[in-house]
Amino acid sequence: MMTQPLTSCILLAIIAISTTLVKDHGCHVYLGSRDVVKGQKAVDEVKKTAGDAVELLNIDVSSDESVQSAAEALTAKLGTEKLYGLVNNAGTGIMHNTPPTEILDTNTRGPRRVTDHFLPLINQDCGRIVNLGSGAGPIFLENIRSKKDKQRFLEPMITNAYNVSKICGSVTAEGRRRVKKTAGDAVELLNIDVSSEESVQSAAEALTAKLGSEKLYGLVNNAGTGVMHNTLPTEILDTNTRGPRRVTNNFLALINQDCGRIVNLGSGGGPNFVKSIPTNEDKQRFLEPMSESQIEDEIKNILNTNDGRSAYQGSKALLACYTMELANEHPNLMISIVTPGYIKTAMTIGAGATKDRMKGQLA
Ligand SMILES: NC(=O)c1ccc[n+]([C@@H]2O[C@H](COP(=O)([O-])OP(=O)(O)OC[C@H]3O[C@@H](n4cnc5c(N)ncnc54)[C@H](OP(=O)(O)O)[C@@H]3O)[C@@H](O)[C@H]2O)c1
Repeated sequence: MMTQPLTSCILLAIIAISTTLVKDHGCHVYLGSRDVVKGQKAVDEVKKTAGDAVELLNIDVSSDESVQSAAEALTAKLGTEKLYGLVNNAGTGIMHNTPPTEILDTNTRGPRRVTDHFLPLINQDCGRIVNLGSGAGPIFLENIRSKKDKQRFLEPMITNAYNVSKICGSVTAEGRRRVKKTAGDAVELLNIDVSSEESVQSAAEALTAKLGSEKLYGLVNNAGTGVMHNTLPTEILDTNTRGPRRVTNNFLALINQDCGRIVNLGSGGGPNFVKSIPTNEDKQRFLEPMSESQIEDEIKNILNTNDGRSAYQGSKALLACYTMELANEHPNLMISIVTPGYIKTAMTIGAGATKDRMKGQLA
């Protein structure tokens, strides 16, 4: 359960998110707006359906002074409580007809300004910061001709208009994530075969003994097979689709229930599988959460085709459906499915993949 207050900055697009956070997750939302009248309207809108746990915070993300005084006002309100998270939603451009200077100042410098001032207010053990990026960021990147210039945008950065402002925002967020890069001895082996219930269970028992009263920050279900591994369809579906469920079921109790996270490794093959389904009705099933028995039915259908490609792609499409179901069941956890892109590993070597592992990690 999200019991701590959550602050969200700014305005109309955030009404739906604020409503969900207040109504479904028990959050207290501080909804930021530079315009008190518009902001209050948004707050009233949220209150209509979600109740009173939402209030206005007057803030203009383009003004250091305004951000500072908003942070001071919130500090006074919170006392010793901490924020669960910060959503940097404010942005401008396209049909707003704002000049380039304002676009870059709001979209790129804004999230940094807000984050710098609000950081001490965020729970330092498991707080989160979400920056609203845009598909325009990657489009900007695609249009850069020289590889060297492109490369700069694929790495953390310390500091032309809307598109560049969005990509800088996401690179800054990546920089923060990479601060805690692994180093030294804080890594150890856990023997586990995700295709065996017995192995997963004994791995969970071994970890329980190691952890004592400590909890896991997160679980990454990375194990997968297919493509150039030359594994059979039955093994592919058992590893890639049932494996993450087996592991999650056995490790769930070990994960921090306030703010833990589960990441499942999906694949672009999943959406490709869905795209290849001929009827819209059949397609629709793969766009929604699925129960275990529904997934088992789909596994049977896929296995009937006896095709390795369908097995791999279908296994990842079904993993997405499982991930959605899991996220619905555990709103207290952050549960997601990610895809690394097409990366040169044992799975893809010789099948046209050229990007190195670091690119997959960045993705
Ligand atoms: N490479 C890509 O382009 C790409 C694209 C999209 C998604 N992915 C996904 O990314 C994940 C990692 O794949 P990768 O590309 O890094 O391939 P990889 O180098 O071949 O790694 C696959 C890993 O999964 C482990 N594994 C397989 N079956 C297992 C089992 N039953 N129990 C425990 N571990 C098992 C393998 O362990 P062993 O070495 O012991 O077999 C290996 O460490 C997979 O889920 C894959 O589907 C990869």
